[in-house]
Amino acid sequence: MSLIQITDLTFGYDGSSETIFENVSFQLDTDWRLGFTGRNGRGKTTFLKLLLGKYEYRGKISATVEFSYFPYEVLDKEKDTMEIVYTMHPYCEHWELVKELSLLQVAEEVLYRPFHTLSSGEQTKVLLAVLFLKENNFLLIDEPTNHLDGETRQVLAKYLKTKKGFILVSHDRVFLDTCIDHILSINKANIDIQRGNYSSWMQNKQLEDSFELAENEKLKKDIKRLSDAAKRSANWSARVEGTKFKGRDASGIKPDKGHIGHKAAKMMKRSKVIENRQATAIEKKKSLLKNIETANPLKITPLVHSSEVLVRCENISIGYGEKSVVKNIQLSIKNGERIALVGKNGSGKSSLLRVICGQEIPFAGRCYTASGLILSYIPQDASFLQGELSEFAYEHQLSETQFKTILRELDFSREDFNRRMEYFSDGQKKKVLLAKSLCEEAHLYVWDEPLNFIDVLSRVQIEEVLLRYAPTLPFVEHDKGFVEKVATRIEEL
Ligand SMILES: Nc1ncnc2c1ncn2[C@@H]1O[C@H](COP(=O)(O)OP(=O)(O)OP(=O)(O)O)[C@@H](O)[C@H]1O
Ligand SMILES: [Mg+2]
Repeated sequence: MSLIQITDLTFGYDGSSETIFENVSFQLDTDWRLGFTGRNGRGKTTFLKLLLGKYEYRGKISATVEFSYFPYEVLDKEKDTMEIVYTMHPYCEHWELVKELSLLQVAEEVLYRPFHTLSSGEQTKVLLAVLFLKENNFLLIDEPTNHLDGETRQVLAKYLKTKKGFILVSHDRVFLDTCIDHILSINKANIDIQRGNYSSWMQNKQLEDSFELAENEKLKKDIKRLSDAAKRSANWSARVEGTKFKGRDASGIKPDKGHIGHKAAKMMKRSKVIENRQATAIEKKKSLLKNIETANPLKITPLVHSSEVLVRCENISIGYGEKSVVKNIQLSIKNGERIALVGKNGSGKSSLLRVICGQEIPFAGRCYTASGLILSYIPQDASFLQGELSEFAYEHQLSETQFKTILRELDFSREDFNRRMEYFSDGQKKKVLLAKSLCEEAHLYVWDEPLNFIDVLSRVQIEEVLLRYAPTLPFVEHDKGFVEKVATRIEEL
C-alpha cells in the first residue's frame, strides 16, 4: 500500500475563465478499487490527465506508482495483437497474458490476428489485461464499458473485482457496484471520498440532500418569522417613540417622556437582536443546497402519424465485405412502440437502425416507411462535433433558445455555451445530440446508444421523458436498467 497525495490542486483550461479544480486536497490509497463519479463535464477525465502529467497545474501531486491510462491509444490497428502487446509492455510474459485472457474469457487465438479484427469487447479486454500485468502500475480506467454488450460488461466487472489499484470512471450503476470498494465523487461544490460502492454512496448523498432540504425549509420559516417579528417590533418602537412628543392624553395626564423613551429603546434593542438572528439564519441558508444537483424534467414533442405501422423491414440482410452481420431480419414498428434492439457486439444493431433511417448502406431485402414519415436520429458516435453551439443549432434548424434550455436542464453551465464543441467532454457531446433530437418534432425517433458517456442523473431524466411523452422509438442501449424501464418490446438480433 502507498499513497497518492493531492495537495492544493488548482487547474483551469487555457482561455477559460472558470477553474475546474480550486485548491483541492485529498489522498488515495493505491490498494483501492476506486470508482469515480460526477456529472458530465465536472473534470473526471481532466483529473486523470493531471495524474498522468499531461497538463500544467498549481499545487502538488505526489505518488510512488506509475500511471497508465485506458483507453490506450493503439496507433497501428493493422498490426497483429501480439505486436501491440509488446509495444505496450515489452517484458510481458506470454503465459501470464494467456492466464489473464482466460479470466476475461478471451481466446488466446486473438493474439495472432490483426488488432482491428477484434470485436470492441475483445480489444478492451486485451488492453486492460496487458495494463494490469505492468508492475508498480496504477490504472486510470476511463469509461471502459461504452459500446460493450451486457455479457461483456459482467465479465469485465468480475475481472476488475479480482484486481486492486485502479480508478474507474463509469456511469453504469450496476457495473460500479460490482467492482469498487471506494468512491470518489466530484460534487457540485466539493470533492468527496467514501468507502463503499455506488449504491451506498448514492444512499448517503440522498440522506445528506434530504437533511439539507429539511434544514433549508426550517430556516426559510425561521427567516419569515423573524422578519415579521422585526417589522412588528420596528412599528411598535416607532409608535411608542411617537407618543413621547404628544401633549396630554384623553385623561388629561401628561406622558412620562423618560419612561416612553426607555420603552422605545428596549424595543429597538429587541428588534436589533431579531435582525441579528435573521442575518445569521440567512447566512446559514446560503451555505445550504450548494451541493444538491438539479435535474428537472425534460420535454419532447412527438408527432402522431396516421398509419399504425411506421416501419416494416422484410428479409433485411446486411453485410460488409465478406462478412454478413444481419441475416433475414423481419421487423415492424408500430405507433407508440419503444423497441430495444439487443445483441452482441457486432450483431448489426447500428446498421439496422441506419437502414431504417434510409442511410446509404449496402443491404438486401426491403424497408418500407409510412408516407411522409419524419425521423429524428441520434448516431452512436458524437466525436465528430465541432464549432459553436449556436452554429450547430442554426445548421440543424433548431430553435437556439429551446436547444440551449434543454442543455441547461442537462447540466450545461453558461460557461459551456461559450466553449467550442471540440473541447466538450464525451458526455457533453452526446448531450448535444440528445438535445437536438429532443428539439425535433418527429414521428419516429431512432436512437443509437443514447446513454453512452451520459451521467446517471441525466440517464434518469431521459428515462422519464420517454415514459412521459411516449414517442415511437427503436433504439440500441446496453444499460440494462434503462432497457427494462423504457422498452415496450425487445428484439434480439
Ligand atoms: N482542451 C480543453 N479546452 C477547454 N475546455 C476543456 C478542454 N477539455 C475539456 N474542457 C472542459 O473542461 C470540463 C471538464 O471536462 P472533462 O472531460 O474532464 O469532464 P468529465 O468529467 O470527464 O466529463 P464526462 O463524464 O462527460 O466524460 C468540461 O466543461 C469541458 O468542456
Ligand atoms: Mg470524461
